[in-house]
Amino acid sequence: MDSFSTLIRTASREQHEEVRGSTFMSDLLGRKLGVDAFARYTEQLWFVYGALESAAARLTADPVAGPFVRPELFRMASLEQDLEYLRGPGWRSGISALPATLEYAERITECARDWPAGYVAHHYTRYLGDLSGGQIIRDTAEKAWGFPKKGDGVRFYVFEQISNPAAFKRSYSALLDAVPGDELERQRVVAECKRAYALNNAVFEELGAEFPLTA
Ligand code: HEM
Repeated sequence: MDSFSTLIRTASREQHEEVRGSTFMSDLLGRKLGVDAFARYTEQLWFVYGALESAAARLTADPVAGPFVRPELFRMASLEQDLEYLRGPGWRSGISALPATLEYAERITECARDWPAGYVAHHYTRYLGDLSGGQIIRDTAEKAWGFPKKGDGVRFYVFEQISNPAAFKRSYSALLDAVPGDELERQRVVAECKRAYALNNAVFEELGAEFPLTA
């Protein structure tokens, strides 16, 4: 039988390709959008990570989700630095969540409250994605809009406390493999992971509608 980390990765491959190929992401990575679109996306991340990380403190002692709560992953401080740079000192009063972002954040909060293994599905989908494909987004953003390398604007993508991302991902996979639960629970977590991708996709759709290509 495949390990849980392999199962979750292979079972969500199609959803991963879908978010990757979304119009908004393709336009962003194709350098067809302005920095405003990138900033608007960063705003949405702030709401999503707000839900993920505000729940983290309460989950540290949880037997299922607790081992995943690792301070070296926390993104809120970096997101806030990026937003201050992208939107200016008054950024807090100017940002807003899209309806799909609210739905995404709400689902994370719900899982954190009622179903720690579901929270793990969201944790995996975000942080491993940021450690992997996030680096491609950072590289593109630095080139497209001239941000200082690994500096202001893209700090969200820089995991300063993780010196060896490959080793970190391996240890993360081991944590996934150790998640307790029978086959049915594993399938439920896989389904939640697919839902997490769908929630991301919905955010990209709304961002795409806000930033259509007019050329
Ligand atoms: C255009 C955007 C994206 C690109 C180019 C991209 C690319 C990649 C790449 C190259 C990997 C590494 C695969 C490996 O190590 O074997 C990866 C892994 C991953 N990505 Fe993405 N990705 C993108 C968007 C996303 C998004 C939006 C999410 C979810 C929010 C996401 C979630 C993940 C996850 C969870 C993994 C880890 C898979 C695993 O090792 O278990 N990615 N991505």
